[in-house]
Amino acid sequence: MKKAFHIKTYGCQMNVYDSERMHEALTAKGYAPVEDMEAADLVILNTCHIREKAAEKVYSDIGRIRLLPDQRENPETQRMIAVAGCVGQAEGEEIMRRAKAVNLVVGPQTYHRLPQMLDVAHEQAAKGQRIRVLDTDFPEESKFDHLPKAQSAAAPAAFLTIQEGCDKFCTFCVVPYTRGAEVSRPVADIVAEAENMVARGAHDITLLGQNVNAYHGEENGQDVNLARLIRRLDEIEGLERIRYTTSHPRDMDEELIQVHGDVEACQPYLHLPIQSGSNKILEAMNRRHSREHYFKIIEQLRAIRPDIALSSDIIVGFPGESDEDFEDTMDLVRQVKYAQCYSFKYSPRPGTPAAEMGEQVPEDIKAERLNRLQALLSEQALEFNQSCVGRSFDVLVERTGRGENRWVGRSPYMQAVHFTLDDAQQKVVDERRGKAYTSPIGAKVRVKITQAGPNSLSGDVDLLTN
Ligand code: 5AD
Ligand code: SF4
Repeated sequence: MKKAFHIKTYGCQMNVYDSERMHEALTAKGYAPVEDMEAADLVILNTCHIREKAAEKVYSDIGRIRLLPDQRENPETQRMIAVAGCVGQAEGEEIMRRAKAVNLVVGPQTYHRLPQMLDVAHEQAAKGQRIRVLDTDFPEESKFDHLPKAQSAAAPAAFLTIQEGCDKFCTFCVVPYTRGAEVSRPVADIVAEAENMVARGAHDITLLGQNVNAYHGEENGQDVNLARLIRRLDEIEGLERIRYTTSHPRDMDEELIQVHGDVEACQPYLHLPIQSGSNKILEAMNRRHSREHYFKIIEQLRAIRPDIALSSDIIVGFPGESDEDFEDTMDLVRQVKYAQCYSFKYSPRPGTPAAEMGEQVPEDIKAERLNRLQALLSEQALEFNQSCVGRSFDVLVERTGRGENRWVGRSPYMQAVHFTLDDAQQKVVDERRGKAYTSPIGAKVRVKITQAGPNSLSGDVDLLTN
């Protein structure tokens, strides 16, 4: 019987991509995916180390999985638990020591070796030994060259990692330590992977990187930056939407800004984290850009693409953040008017410079600032969503919604859009796509927005204008 695996993904979209690649590597090895963790012979936790809370969650999940019914006394057939991702990278040895239930630890740069690691694990089990395998190297070889080409159907909106790691060393961030130095994938590999994704059913691709706009690849001896890569991908037939995330303001050059004006597939939505609105804090964070520089980029983007919507990441309570610094953040948010924004209390991470800084902000002040900021951000998000009522968007049908004949896709601005397709409409949609589809997933429909909530939109499908 085939061994069954279940992958649970935490954290960012790069982890979602990595989980898909591990899925491909395991199915190529003859494993079969299962929805139900209890039925799995192998559970992989693809973890996130960005904030303390995210990392802690992994330990509590391990405790819970350990207690799942597992009647199989035989060590050869017992359920294995693997910790992958950034917690594995940062705390692998410690996990092996502390969490006896964990059998495998694999880092973000070594998961292509998972099949061999599993062979070792099975050998250990066959000898009646406790299963312990760890590989958190930063290897010479690139995992991308050793992973099988993806075979399974792609999601209509898919992720594609084009760059990994970070050389910027923001003083709060673990990424340069967990993901390593900045590395860009070759253009040819990215183009081939995007073509393969489109052939497998993707129409919307989000290019991923911890520092995606620092991308610097090469083709025919020529440097290719992100702007040129997007123009190159825009030539792929069937690829209708291109997005990229996460960008750093310092790498938001004019050539890339221009792409938002020229390339229709490039969506009018940009995630551009500012982290703080105070120049003093930006400097302490080693962001190496000012709030003025950030405003300038936004001004240029809006000049070229007036309908562009912005999202961001903001940290409150960074060491040394005074009331005045926090007010600078509130002021920046009021001026930018974000469509969406993630906000976090500063969380000291072991090994990062900010964790050692004096003037750590007390927890209650962080909480109060976060509350105030989130109230403002929710107001802005609702306002933005309400401004969409009455507009019509092309929406890619991505998944079923709650209720009969309800479907969900996303607007060009990434809001979830809920709508109904009755049986007759589904039939029309399927027929228009020209092949014998059994589900509208992957089809494009035009939705007129009638209602806006804080986190999503809903509307009516207008088949006449499709
Ligand atoms: N504490 C709080 N938030 C953090 N982030 C990164 N490191 C920390 C930290 N130590 C946030 C940043 C980043 C997002 C992915 O997570 O805002 O952009
Ligand atoms: Fe988490 Fe950052 Fe690692 Fe993504 S890169 S998994 S957000 S720590």
